[in-house]
Amino acid sequence: MDGMTQEVLRLEGVSKVYEQGERRIVALDEITFSVGQGEFVAIIGSSGSGKSTLLHLIGGLDTPTQGDIFLEGRSYAGLSDDELTLLRREKIGIVFQFFNLLPTLTVWENIALPALLLRKPMPEVALRVESLLEMVGLKSRQEHRPHQLSGGEMQRVAIARALINRPSLLLADEPTGNLDSQTGLEILHLLQKVTVQYQTTLLMVTHDREISRFAHRMIQIRDGRIVREDR
Ligand SMILES: Nc1ncnc2c1ncn2[C@@H]1O[C@H](COP(=O)(O)OP(=O)(O)OP(=O)(O)O)[C@@H](O)[C@H]1O
Ligand SMILES: [Mg+2]
Repeated sequence: MDGMTQEVLRLEGVSKVYEQGERRIVALDEITFSVGQGEFVAIIGSSGSGKSTLLHLIGGLDTPTQGDIFLEGRSYAGLSDDELTLLRREKIGIVFQFFNLLPTLTVWENIALPALLLRKPMPEVALRVESLLEMVGLKSRQEHRPHQLSGGEMQRVAIARALINRPSLLLADEPTGNLDSQTGLEILHLLQKVTVQYQTTLLMVTHDREISRFAHRMIQIRDGRIVREDR
């Protein structure tokens, strides 16, 4: 990150240790890095290297055993669970490998939900949903339910949902992992497009080295440690 770029995310010595009876599993071991405004960073590593654990900590879904995370300069360490949840809803969008859409809600409702949870006024929510449907190319599918969509379409809905609150940080955990390679490419192009259009910072984890070509920067982790960084 150069001196001109505003820092969005910083991790300082972040470790995560899982205790399982007698066993200690060090999933993350003193991870330190920062990400600037508008950057697209790929975290790559093989299965079990700690990628999902890392995204869960950054997304405030779990807390580190050691170290601290700063989003727009704000430390996670002093926050209560409720404050962390609010921070996540307001500032972070997450896209998962298995889409995680709510099956009983329509496409429109799935996209709107995070904004409604923040009690945003309905007219504003409706406008945002309309423009997101346009951007991800699903206007004609807005009344569908998730089971009436293809995998690629479900992931488009998930991306729109992740952007509804205009997050400063978008997290994606193997967003193409459950799609064929052509559809995966389309999703990567869409992620690239939305990060430019919304000036959102994107942190994506994957085990697929090919995918990191799309990113500005690549951070490789192995056994919970950063082993390499490339631009
Ligand atoms: N809740 C948990 N309790 C105990 N150990 C866990 C837990 N979650 C993850 N681990 C362990 O931490 C390590 C990192 O797991 P993680 O899910 O972060 O890997 P990953 O890089 O996302 O792998 P994959 O590519 O398979 O998704 C693994 O050894 C895993 O078994
Ligand atoms: Mg994982």
